[in-house]
Amino acid sequence: MKQQLVIDRIEDETDRIRVITLRPQDGKELPPHTAGAHLDFDLGPLGTRSYSLIDWPGDARPAATWRIAVQREEDGQGGSMQMHGFQPGDRISATAPSNDFGLGDHAGPALLLAGGIGITPVISMATALAAADRPFALHYTARSRGLMGFADALGTAFGDKLTCHFDDAAPLDLAALFGGIAPDTHLYVCGPKGMIEAARAAANAAGLPDAQIHFELFATPQPQEGDSAFEVEVASTGQVFTIPPGRSIIEVLEEGGVDLIYDCQRGDCGICQTEVLEGTPDHRDVVLSDSEKAEGKLMQICVSRAKTAKLVLDL
Ligand code: FES
Repeated sequence: MKQQLVIDRIEDETDRIRVITLRPQDGKELPPHTAGAHLDFDLGPLGTRSYSLIDWPGDARPAATWRIAVQREEDGQGGSMQMHGFQPGDRISATAPSNDFGLGDHAGPALLLAGGIGITPVISMATALAAADRPFALHYTARSRGLMGFADALGTAFGDKLTCHFDDAAPLDLAALFGGIAPDTHLYVCGPKGMIEAARAAANAAGLPDAQIHFELFATPQPQEGDSAFEVEVASTGQVFTIPPGRSIIEVLEEGGVDLIYDCQRGDCGICQTEVLEGTPDHRDVVLSDSEKAEGKLMQICVSRAKTAKLVLDL
């Protein structure tokens, strides 16, 4: 269900990261959310954009306002630029909070790993773990100190549970991080695709099973050089659609009246997973394992494309 929100406050965290505080337009109580939850904002012709809710220790509960952070991406598809263009008092509509990246209730220690603006859901997770007195460590990596948002506030809130890593000075060493890790540790990682894939591989190599690895991709899918158009046939109806570069299978099929189920549209939730009956997918998600990708029988139709001229999908 959509709700109307008013932009209450805007604060610059870094040159590119802006913190936006929102309140309900009708003045009613906000629905509850759990650590790791996000809102999907309706940006009109640009579609929806997801931003994680940020909770800090000491925040009022139930929350009277919601807080998100948006990193400006000049090379993106315009969503972050539109979000940065808002002023206090502007209105925006968003879904109620949903959470594909929750902490669960396991008893083991939590290892939180965030890359860049992927820190936002992880702040809420650290806040929830600290409030519940559950054991955790937070590792936060950025390209440089100047590009890292929230470092001071994180240090104040979480003290020696926080370790910061900088690509240009003291980069994160995944092998060292996972060396000797307790076997009941749950890993929560949020950041760009390469970081998630590397962390997942290092965690597996250290003996953590996939069931203890939780991740959320924090990047809008970008077109890649050499992307070209391909056809998708909907097996149940025989309809054929052309997917041009820069548009997803979901966007084109939905516009053509095909009923689809999906959520993140970033390739990390697995909800749009579809069986491939013919053709070879070009996988761009972080959901499928390497062997599932090589098998080519399944694909995430929000981000993945085709290596062949045509795909026939079990839709
Ligand atoms: S909608 Fe989440 S993986 Fe496609």
